[in-house]
Amino acid sequence: MEEQQEVLIRCEQISKKYRGRTVLEDVSFEIRRGEFLSLLGPSGSGKTTILRLLIGIEQPTSGRILKEGKDITAIPPRDRNIGIVFQNYSLFPNMDVYHNIAYALQSRKTDKEEIRRKVREIIEAVGLEEHIYKKPRQLSGGQQQRVAIARTLVLNPDLILFDEPMSALDAEIKLVLRRQLKEIQRKMKITMVYVTHDQEEAFALSDRIMVLNDLHIAQLDTPHNLYHHPADDFVRRFIAEHLDLKVRSIEESIQ
Ligand SMILES: Nc1ncnc2c1ncn2[C@@H]1O[C@H](COP(=O)(O)OP(=O)(O)O)[C@@H](O)[C@H]1O
Ligand SMILES: [Mg+2]
Repeated sequence: MEEQQEVLIRCEQISKKYRGRTVLEDVSFEIRRGEFLSLLGPSGSGKTTILRLLIGIEQPTSGRILKEGKDITAIPPRDRNIGIVFQNYSLFPNMDVYHNIAYALQSRKTDKEEIRRKVREIIEAVGLEEHIYKKPRQLSGGQQQRVAIARTLVLNPDLILFDEPMSALDAEIKLVLRRQLKEIQRKMKITMVYVTHDQEEAFALSDRIMVLNDLHIAQLDTPHNLYHHPADDFVRRFIAEHLDLKVRSIEESIQ
């Protein structure tokens, strides 16, 4: 798994203050090329802030961000080649699936044939062939999410960020989408950073999980190590008890 070890992003001693109030302090970590990294932590622990720093719509108060060894801290979002999928998907309601996905390419003045080829390829990869001429309102929540992912994928980003993309969906759809997302990630070998407040989801999807607490990274590790070797009491409670609770409630509902 040599490929997995290659560093795509390196955050060095990142601090972030909003109007004098510190929300992240001296945070350092790496994102490896091809990995699925989840960000977990209590509400307000800075998960969304980390995504905003990575994509470049916020600047760190101190520290720097490197991509493939190059300092991108001052580089604007459009030049970072990093995509983001928001919780509300923000699809264009008046455009069909095809045009929602093609839009960003069209605005980049890509050749027409090239656009058609790329969009079709992505639509196939995310399994939306049957829905290509439908408007967002004719799609289920899960299908809309796939359009949102496709729209990001078509630009061929080095990294895709997700901010709680499943939190508006019901439990059954979540399970299906989880599997599809993982499939897309494997097939396209794309690096993903995924914010969730759902421990079970993070465990199901991730190569590694970052647990944030109290301005810092409490632990950044594999699901296995978080569960079996928690770095401190906070991680142990936050991870193990939440997962155990879920396992227990599932067992109880089966009995
Ligand atoms: N634009 C902003 N201005 C001031 N405070 C902010 C802003 N964005 C986030 N915060 C604060 O920073 C902290 C971290 O927020 P956020 O990154 O959204 O946390 P999370 O996504 O983990 O819930 C919170 O206390 C939040 O209120
Ligand atoms: Mg958030």
